[in-house]
Amino acid sequence: MHKPTSGARAPDSILCVVGARPNFMKMAPIMAALGDLEPKLAVSLVHTGQHYDAAMNHQYFEALGIPQPDTNLEVGSGSHAVQTAEVMRRFEPVLDAKRPSAVLVVGDVNSTLACALVAAKKGIPVIHVEAGLRSFDRAMPEEINRILTDQISDLLFITERSGRENLLREGIADSRIRFVGNVMIDTLRRNLEKAVPVAGILKDACRGTFLDGHDGYAVLTLHRPSNVDDPDTLRTLLETVLKIGARLPVIFPLHPRTRAMIERFGFNKMLDVHELLQLPPIGYLEMLGLMKDARVVLTDSGGIQEETTALGVPCITLRNNTERPITVDEGTNTIAGQDPAKILAAFDEIMRGGGKAGRVPEFWDGQASVRIAASIHEWLKNGLRD
Ligand code: UD1
Repeated sequence: MHKPTSGARAPDSILCVVGARPNFMKMAPIMAALGDLEPKLAVSLVHTGQHYDAAMNHQYFEALGIPQPDTNLEVGSGSHAVQTAEVMRRFEPVLDAKRPSAVLVVGDVNSTLACALVAAKKGIPVIHVEAGLRSFDRAMPEEINRILTDQISDLLFITERSGRENLLREGIADSRIRFVGNVMIDTLRRNLEKAVPVAGILKDACRGTFLDGHDGYAVLTLHRPSNVDDPDTLRTLLETVLKIGARLPVIFPLHPRTRAMIERFGFNKMLDVHELLQLPPIGYLEMLGLMKDARVVLTDSGGIQEETTALGVPCITLRNNTERPITVDEGTNTIAGQDPAKILAAFDEIMRGGGKAGRVPEFWDGQASVRIAASIHEWLKNGLRD
């Protein structure tokens, strides 16, 4: 076991970490806001390489203007243990070389926890953006990542007020918690005008006439292991989607995990219907274009629950819980789980025009990253005190 790093650290430098697709849209505005601080802060970026396909990765860096990572750990895929351990093993020497004032992690993926853990053990303060979200479902790997990352973080930025209650309940000092809003929505607002129109996406997919004769479309995303790794669950969900497709065409960008499972379980044939358009993983601006004009989005993603709320587009969540309750309480989100009857009832309601109108939650105003940068600046000035 290593002793905590001793000696003086380089002053005022933040090492930011990304690993998987949902981290990229969170990190883009944070790095921009940190870069705008005066006096200048040294900001560097490590990519763990948890996601590595161009479609899951480079496209996002380009579209969102994220600087090229200073280091890519190239860990790739593996079991949770292997992936987490490999990130830790490869992150440690980078941290030793850079000796930043603090490490900033976002979200709840394996890379988030792995890098936070390495930093905490070395006595380097950890900043966690999107802290405090809880699904109260420990079967979700992300829930374990959230709880543990928050426990070892020094400065915790929350997106909604429920985050504070959750953190206080887990014994985290209030003085470490800052309610700043949602950085993902900063990115959404900045890019809305650049969103790629649906017609362009369909044309690129050689399906320019897919929506002809229809009044709108639905978007579907699925990638949670609890939905896609079990053949019975996945079949039930897909059969339900096909019923929806008979009434409203469905556009379905496929996560690599989901594509692999559909192939493994032999479901390709069942999905080969005119009303369902499968796409490869698409870029951020394409997804934004799809969501913004959809009549309904069906998803098991956390981020998409938030983005649809910000866009005012009805969302049906194909999970039994959400760690983002404000999207249900104030936004456009309906939790339907995996039960076909509930999913179809929620869909009927939306088709009748009765979907939730929702309102945009407090501080989801495009300025969360600016608040975060100001708060980090203050915290560094105060010698990293709460
Ligand atoms: C990870 C995150 C999840 C997040 C999701 C967004 C964890 C525990 N999970 O899940 O919270 O919502 O990212 O996408 O960190 N694969 C590729 N190419 C890639 C990346 C993955 O083909 O670039 C395939 C591999 O077969 C891999 C599988 O997808 O085994 C799963 O990837 P992994 O990073 O383990 O988890 P995700 O399901 O993507």
